[in-house]
Amino acid sequence: MYPRGINLFHIGPYAIEGRAVLAPMAGISDQPFRNLCRTQGAALAVSEMVTSQTHLWQSRKSQNRLKSDGENGLRSVQIAGSEPTQMAEAAKACVDAGAHIVDINMGCPAKKVCNKAAGSALLQDEGLVNDILQAVVEASLVPVTLKIRTGWDTNNKNACRIARIAQDAGIQLLTVHGRTRACRFNGEAEYSTIAAVVTETDLPVIANGDINSPEKAQQVLEQTGAAAVMIGRATQGNPWLFQQINAFLATGEKAQQPHLAEVAQTLLKHLNAMYNFYGQEHGVRIARKHFAWYMDKHLPTQEAVKAARRQFNPLLLPQEQLKLVRTLFTEHLPLEEEAA
Ligand SMILES: Cc1cc2nc3c(=O)[nH]c(=O)nc-3n(C[C@H](O)[C@H](O)[C@H](O)COP(=O)(O)O)c2cc1C
Repeated sequence: MYPRGINLFHIGPYAIEGRAVLAPMAGISDQPFRNLCRTQGAALAVSEMVTSQTHLWQSRKSQNRLKSDGENGLRSVQIAGSEPTQMAEAAKACVDAGAHIVDINMGCPAKKVCNKAAGSALLQDEGLVNDILQAVVEASLVPVTLKIRTGWDTNNKNACRIARIAQDAGIQLLTVHGRTRACRFNGEAEYSTIAAVVTETDLPVIANGDINSPEKAQQVLEQTGAAAVMIGRATQGNPWLFQQINAFLATGEKAQQPHLAEVAQTLLKHLNAMYNFYGQEHGVRIARKHFAWYMDKHLPTQEAVKAARRQFNPLLLPQEQLKLVRTLFTEHLPLEEEAA
């Protein structure tokens, strides 16, 4: 049975309160979304990956991913790459730019990363994994964490060996996505390999993959013995999942879905945060996918979702987007809109 009341894990000197962590998701877990998820109870929120090739950091995308002003909690910055010296340099630069934690991505199956043998492709080369981890830990004045998959493919699940390498290299926390690299996002995540990793290592372990409800979070914590769960896709348009998991783990009682007025209020705040962070023109574009997720998760029918998206997507100004959200959700409810 999940032990109620134990609600803390550690990453080096940091005591992290809570058991549900926002996953790094490129294009999604940006600063506005991380801040929102923390206010909704996320124990930790990991940034989108940045390349270890620091000469590419001048791009707008990288600059946005590296910004540290305005973060409302611990800043865990994720780096991706395959060359130990370059990874070490990138880690140092992230710390100089304000990172409290450096996270190494060895979990991403994306072609762009894997073609350069980074992300989860690295799991095939345990020697190189060791070299990267040692180099990054040595170069970083802050705790270094690692995110992996269960292995290269179903015949090569080497997560336990990677965990031992990580522990010996001085990694402070390990996140395991319960799929192999070859699985990409297909099939269901499995948690028995994560449970084996928890048994085999002294590191705090975070379990990840397909967790989409408080019950599932509790089941995965029980099955794996992990310190926490990490959640990605299920939080899109649904940042309330964190407080729902926290409440369920604390009391065993299931929280209600948020009232539509609360959805509207949160979405308005989120939109304003995106305009502030990205600027109006870019913010309006980024807002469209988040709007679609909120609609998908909270409107009663697919017809209503499609109609809302048809109305929202052509809008070019923040004021137009905000007005439509107010109209859609709250025609009869006075809302206090707070700028983020
Ligand atoms: C759109 C998208 C972008 C992602 N980007 C990253 C990333 O930048 N770094 C990373 O380690 N994992 C990335 N992931 C993987 C997630 O962190 C997570 O491991 C995966 O989605 C499984 O968790 P979930 O089932 O809760 O979504 C991404 C996943 C998605 C869907």
